[in-house]
Amino acid sequence: MNAFEYRNGQLHAEEVPLATLAEQYGTPLFVYSRAHILAQYGALAQAFAAVRPLICYSVKTNSNGAVIKTLAAAGAGVDLVSGGELERARRAGVAPSKMVFAGVGKTEVEIADALRAGILFFTVESEPELVRISNLARRLGATGRVALRVNPDVDPQTHKYISTGKQENKFGLDFARAEQAYALAARLPGLEIVGLHMHIGSQILTSRPFAEAVRKVAPLCAELQQRYPAFRYLDIGGGLGIPYQPDQPPLKPAALARELVPLLQPLGLEIVLEPGRYLVGNAGALVTRVQYLKDNPLKKFIIVDAAMNDLIRPSLYQAYHEIQAVRATSARVLGDVVGPICESGDFFAQDRDLPAVPPGELLAVLGAGAYGFAMSSNYNSRPRAAEVMVHGAQHALIRRRETWDDLVRHEAEVTW
Ligand SMILES: Cc1ncc(COP(=O)(O)O)c(C=O)c1O
Repeated sequence: MNAFEYRNGQLHAEEVPLATLAEQYGTPLFVYSRAHILAQYGALAQAFAAVRPLICYSVKTNSNGAVIKTLAAAGAGVDLVSGGELERARRAGVAPSKMVFAGVGKTEVEIADALRAGILFFTVESEPELVRISNLARRLGATGRVALRVNPDVDPQTHKYISTGKQENKFGLDFARAEQAYALAARLPGLEIVGLHMHIGSQILTSRPFAEAVRKVAPLCAELQQRYPAFRYLDIGGGLGIPYQPDQPPLKPAALARELVPLLQPLGLEIVLEPGRYLVGNAGALVTRVQYLKDNPLKKFIIVDAAMNDLIRPSLYQAYHEIQAVRATSARVLGDVVGPICESGDFFAQDRDLPAVPPGELLAVLGAGAYGFAMSSNYNSRPRAAEVMVHGAQHALIRRRETWDDLVRHEAEVTW
């Protein structure tokens, strides 16, 4: 389903005009469609039904509690990467038995917390991390269930900043090293080897890299199953891409499942998926108000009240986000959409054919549900935007706009 569509010339989120939301909650404003999130989750669960996967929503993508709760209520678990995410997932009511914890730099405090909580397993990235989990598990009288992250060295054909499954990346262990690390895990007290993990990258739009990676790890999984009696999970990570451009063909979950299920089923393992972007990316829009129009001999600029501190993806990865006028217009202009921040990298579109809208009108930056608010900051002392969730004709504030007080709340006065 498409979360944002024109009705009577007004861009709507489900049944609510974005203009109404902007009026009520102000701009810049993140708007999320609950129905879109649930439709994406449902399509993935249905496509992979033959292997009954545990779908662990990757909380880093959009960590708002309302988003986590929406997915948890539909049956999702969570993929965590910090103690803060563990706390958010706990507060959202996610059962620890549906939590997996990834990341190359887990601290002692984070590991101890996760052990106490009794999470399903840690996805482990290095030998020293195994030793750390073992020591802490022993101290706490707990069992650290571990799945080693194997780096299958496949090219996910995505932006290099979001490619994680190649040998040069910092993530995971190569095959030879992984076997040694499994042997180490087997010797260390307090650990139980329960699975194998991989995550090859993000925004992947074809099945091929996933299939290649599964084919590569399958023989090792079979071997590990023989060797370690508790080995039962294959976590194939996230990375499913979404269309950001109107004509971009989506990665259909059914097509992905058609390739992967025949490879996964014979393994006889419990399958874990860790999608993030796929579930929430196109559920979100960043609604922003045009402040000024400006031009010079080379360029036309539409200056809006959202900025790179709200949505950094264009600046960080030259990512494309479709931009639509909230009130439909046929007028077009070739130009840039830029924010007020003092960086030339503060843009949402460059040299693009855009809706021509005057100051005071609203634009919607689409595809902003994933790695949008979650990556936002207070740069230039800009309070973070508000977030709203839409459910049919209903809407609710799920994070209020930050205030000037919020900007300085954590600072302390020096008295010397
Ligand atoms: C281990 C792991 N799993 C899942 C994800 C989610 O990725 P995506 O949003 O591309 O599905 C990430 C993203 O960085 C990750 O590092």
